[in-house]
Amino acid sequence: MQLLPVMEGLHSAEAFNPAFLEAFFRRAREVENRPLEFSEALRGRIIATIFAEPSTRTRLSFESAAHRLGASVISVTDPKTTSGAKGETLADMTKVIGSYCDLLVLRHPSDGASRLASLHAGVPVVNGGDGRLGHPTQTLVDLYTLYRKWGDFEGRTVALMGDLRNGRTARSLAWGLALLGARILLLPGKGLDWEASFERRILDKFDYRLRWGKHPLFAEWTGSSEARVLEPKGLVQKSLFREDPPEIDKLDAIYLTRMQAERGADVGSGGYPGLTPENLKNPLMESCQILHPLPRCQELPASIDHDPRALYFEQAAMGPIVRQVVFLAMLGEDKWPLPSLAPLPAGSREHDLGLCPNEGCVTRSEGIQAPWRVVGLARRTFLCSYCDSLLPVDYAGCRSTHRVHPVHSQAALRISPENLRPFLRRDEATDAGYTWGG
Ligand code: CP
Repeated sequence: MQLLPVMEGLHSAEAFNPAFLEAFFRRAREVENRPLEFSEALRGRIIATIFAEPSTRTRLSFESAAHRLGASVISVTDPKTTSGAKGETLADMTKVIGSYCDLLVLRHPSDGASRLASLHAGVPVVNGGDGRLGHPTQTLVDLYTLYRKWGDFEGRTVALMGDLRNGRTARSLAWGLALLGARILLLPGKGLDWEASFERRILDKFDYRLRWGKHPLFAEWTGSSEARVLEPKGLVQKSLFREDPPEIDKLDAIYLTRMQAERGADVGSGGYPGLTPENLKNPLMESCQILHPLPRCQELPASIDHDPRALYFEQAAMGPIVRQVVFLAMLGEDKWPLPSLAPLPAGSREHDLGLCPNEGCVTRSEGIQAPWRVVGLARRTFLCSYCDSLLPVDYAGCRSTHRVHPVHSQAALRISPENLRPFLRRDEATDAGYTWGG
């Protein structure tokens, strides 16, 4: 199978691993405690921040981080001032900007934009938020904020509330929490849940299971007293076998997100889940840290800002520290190395699987074919390499035997990844000389 080069940079929380996060938190502590030690660390380096969507925290904390390390910054804050407004592709633009800098931070409305940019920029690209897909450095901010409080994550229950369908911060954080062994409780707004295939990938990857938990407060937030819980298979809550579904008696943290109206989210008649001062008196919330990536809307009233559990401004203040560590790891790796990120395969374009079904995918805006990658141990799943959307592959052929099988069959599982040949339709396989089954 012909593979595109591995994507350089930081594009997804999927690239994190426990050794990386552990070392990252330790380095963040060093930067926080001894900032002057790093003030000349990247002198002479140039960092470009290209923001094609509005941002307060991400852009300014990346730029603050660059200045605190002695680097210089060039910046785009309004895409209308670039040649993107004249129709220049993201691929061309990042190729050029990459030749003006040592590292590029990109925020973009299309899913997978930073992955695509990294194949053209020639310098590391850091994802500052791409479409609905991910915001990995926000996840590092979120996890570091909780790490400072807790020291570890195992057995902690963290609720993700709000717009899970469109909220990239919640998606990235779910990945990071599962990596660290936390229990994840889901409180999406009505019609604002993420797609089942995303959750299935988390369950498969981390050997997690899905169950349900209940609490009367959940009904106030989502309209149902029951909520999905993703947890490590070994973790058993004490009440699990007494009733079904068991009562959740404690949240360690809740992560609120605003409704992403700019991505078409709409509360409809369901209302949107949010916290009230009254909620904080409930025993469920007694030691619950409250996080929010900000900006906020009505889901997080300012009247709770002075509650000791309200962590969101402390969380935002961690932005420059965390992003200094990202820059040090990518541009100062000789002196401040961190364990490698798991490489993200850029996939294959060898067999045309048509357009990515996700209209928000960067392949759609760039007018290119979706490259694909394959995941899953229990069943084969083909994903767009840029936006992780499920591709409608129904048949898997083996390039050595020239047999083709239903994609979710045991026979398809036995085909080694390098021999896989995906087909959207059975007649495509027979036209290509593949015979059925066997
Ligand atoms: N949390 C976050 O991404 O905020 P900004 O949109 O202000 O960058």
